[in-house]
Amino acid sequence: MTNQLISILLFLSFLFLSIHAKKYHIFGNDESVGSLTSDERLLVDVDIYNRPYALPYLLRQLEQLVCPCSQCYLDFHLYHVFNTTVENETSRLLNAWVSAMQTSSQSVFASITVQEWTAKSKTDQTNRLRDVMKRASELDVTYLAMFDSMIVLLEPGKLLSTLISKDKPLMTPLLRSTKDMYTSTFYLNDRQSTGYDNYKQIYERKNLGCFLVDGGIKDFYFFNFKYPQIRNVFLNNQSLDQPEQQYAIDVLARQNSIPTYVCNREVYGYIPAQFLEAMYDEAAIHDLYIHMLIEHQLNGPSQTYLPPIERTSLIDIPLSTAKTKFGLDEIYVINLVRRADRRARLQATFDILNISARFFDAIDGKHTVDQTYLERLNIRLLPNYEDPYNRRPMNYGELGCFFSHYFIWEDMVKNDYKNGALILEDDVRFDAFFKYKLEKILSNQSLDWDIIYLGRKIMRSDEEAYENTIETFLIEPSYSHWTVGYALSLRGARMLLDEKPLQKILPVDEYLPIMYDHHPNHSWKSHFHHRNLKAYAFHPAIITPTHYFGEPNYISDTENTTVLGKEEKIDVSQRSKLVSVDVITKNEKDEL
Ligand SMILES: *[C@@H]1O[C@H](CO)[C@@H](O)[C@H](O)[C@H]1NC(C)=O
Ligand SMILES: *[C@@H]1O[C@H](CO)[C@@H](O)[C@H](O)[C@H]1NC(C)=O
Ligand SMILES: *[C@@H]1O[C@H](CO)[C@@H](O)[C@H](O)[C@H]1NC(C)=O
Ligand SMILES: *[C@@H]1O[C@H](CO)[C@@H](O)[C@H](O)[C@H]1NC(C)=O
Ligand SMILES: *[C@@H]1O[C@H](CO)[C@@H](O)[C@H](O)[C@H]1NC(C)=O
Ligand SMILES: *[C@@H]1O[C@H](CO)[C@@H](O)[C@H](O)[C@H]1NC(C)=O
Ligand SMILES: *[C@@H]1O[C@H](CO)[C@@H](O)[C@H](O)[C@H]1NC(C)=O
Repeated sequence: MTNQLISILLFLSFLFLSIHAKKYHIFGNDESVGSLTSDERLLVDVDIYNRPYALPYLLRQLEQLVCPCSQCYLDFHLYHVFNTTVENETSRLLNAWVSAMQTSSQSVFASITVQEWTAKSKTDQTNRLRDVMKRASELDVTYLAMFDSMIVLLEPGKLLSTLISKDKPLMTPLLRSTKDMYTSTFYLNDRQSTGYDNYKQIYERKNLGCFLVDGGIKDFYFFNFKYPQIRNVFLNNQSLDQPEQQYAIDVLARQNSIPTYVCNREVYGYIPAQFLEAMYDEAAIHDLYIHMLIEHQLNGPSQTYLPPIERTSLIDIPLSTAKTKFGLDEIYVINLVRRADRRARLQATFDILNISARFFDAIDGKHTVDQTYLERLNIRLLPNYEDPYNRRPMNYGELGCFFSHYFIWEDMVKNDYKNGALILEDDVRFDAFFKYKLEKILSNQSLDWDIIYLGRKIMRSDEEAYENTIETFLIEPSYSHWTVGYALSLRGARMLLDEKPLQKILPVDEYLPIMYDHHPNHSWKSHFHHRNLKAYAFHPAIITPTHYFGEPNYISDTENTTVLGKEEKIDVSQRSKLVSVDVITKNEKDEL
């Protein structure tokens, strides 16, 4: 197609969209498509604080940008705000990458510059804006994209042309924090009831389009200098040259009644969660960024994980080799061999978190556990055990699950793991401050524990000692379910084995509360004698399952298995009596 034809098509689609676009007074869907002319130029300006951990991801996205204009330029503003060694590390990595890009045939940029300077404070945007506008003016660009180094773009190749096509004076693409956090690149003035609903409609992409915001935009700005208003206020404004003048982009836009938009039709990417307490705490900012990276993989369509965010390979920034086990002797991850997807997701997560873990092949209730297997282990069911919700006996999945945990306890004892171990199931989802909190607790040598739940389902909320926190993060748990993640001491492992639970088996998440003596069923409890496991639980939980029962991509490896007969002693001849349930529709245990 010739350029002319493209222009005509773009013009026609512009007309079409203009006619059909619904107009609302505010929060309206107002999308139109601008046309491209071949002599337009575009400047990308990225501001970088001294956070070298974000660079491998940011730089990869910049490598993937496609320039839709005749010339594109890339500028970095590198702030020296903190006096630490990371300043030099950031500067070194950035300059190495710029050199590599300049000789790379893949680079789409006519120039790449790095400006390093010391800001008065982290919130000082004035100098940056003045510099950027001066550059935009010198380069005579039509478009300016300004953003923060902490963002993650999902389809950088389409970004710039998409932003141009929105044809707005000043806009931001919707970038969001992870589930439940509600941080984004825009805000509305009214944060009460209706304002909040309007915010959520856009944030959750229930309404799609470009929406006028009455509050402001942040972290990502896209200026279109074809609009005279934008030129006057930002580009040719003498008063911006006053060095003592402090201003912010959204304040200037508001004062000058510049219509500012957020667009959400495309899924652009993420920004880390931000909240007041973590605003100036570099360690918390780091943890929230890392959390954004690891949560990304969970945002895939139903029952799939997304591949991890890519890192640059243009310069060598190896993943850390300094891996932690939190001072424990092992971190076990129970994973079914046939669930390689979960294993891959977790391996990527551990790489990002710098955690060293060992995958432990789960005993497959569906394929491995059968009568012969049970006989070989001489398994006996707990007399009268019945699932409290479904009134059904144990199923093969639950048996497989018990064996997996049991063999790990045995492995701990065999290896004499004096420092204890962490046991995780492969659907574990980590809280943003998981590492920090776990490190803090496990480094306290005077804390005496056998088991610490990292996450659990609280079964009797009224029996929980929420107010008696130990070391801020821990409480003593009452009756709980789930075994998605717990730390276990060597003494604890021995206690769990010594009770010979294979001779009176019940689901592992019922066994644990029996052993710390907080199980409500006295008849079950009476079969176990030394129920004095010293138990703690993180409150709030620092891990959760990735999906809860009933959610669209919930998949359970224990629920979809055959139920065992109620017979105490398993007998091959009883096999025909096994009740077969392929899908158990109601399972209280896994509900939120
Ligand atoms: C960084 O160090 C310089 C020189 O030692 C000092 O003048 C400046 O105040 C320090 N900045 C911060 C933010 O601590
Ligand atoms: C950073 O590098 C400069 C020289 O390149 C050196 O003088 C300075 O001490 C370094 N600062 C830190 C904190 O390592
Ligand atoms: C220039 O910027 C100042 C803020 O520094 C603003 O008050 C003023 O309205 C702008 N001028 C124009 C012509 O828009
Ligand atoms: C892992 O190590 C890398 C390289 O040292 C570092 O940049 C990153 O912040 C670390 N991540 C975590 C979660 O500690
Ligand atoms: C304990 O479990 C048995 C068998 O499932 C049940 O019949 C009994 O009612 C339960 N007891 C209590 C106190 O919940
Ligand atoms: C470690 O735990 C003990 C027992 O709960 C507590 O008294 C002590 O303050 C903790 N130590 C530190 C350094 O937090
Ligand atoms: C059980 O398996 C079926 C088919 O294999 C699947 O569609 C369903 O989602 C599974 N149910 C659960 C609860 O995992």
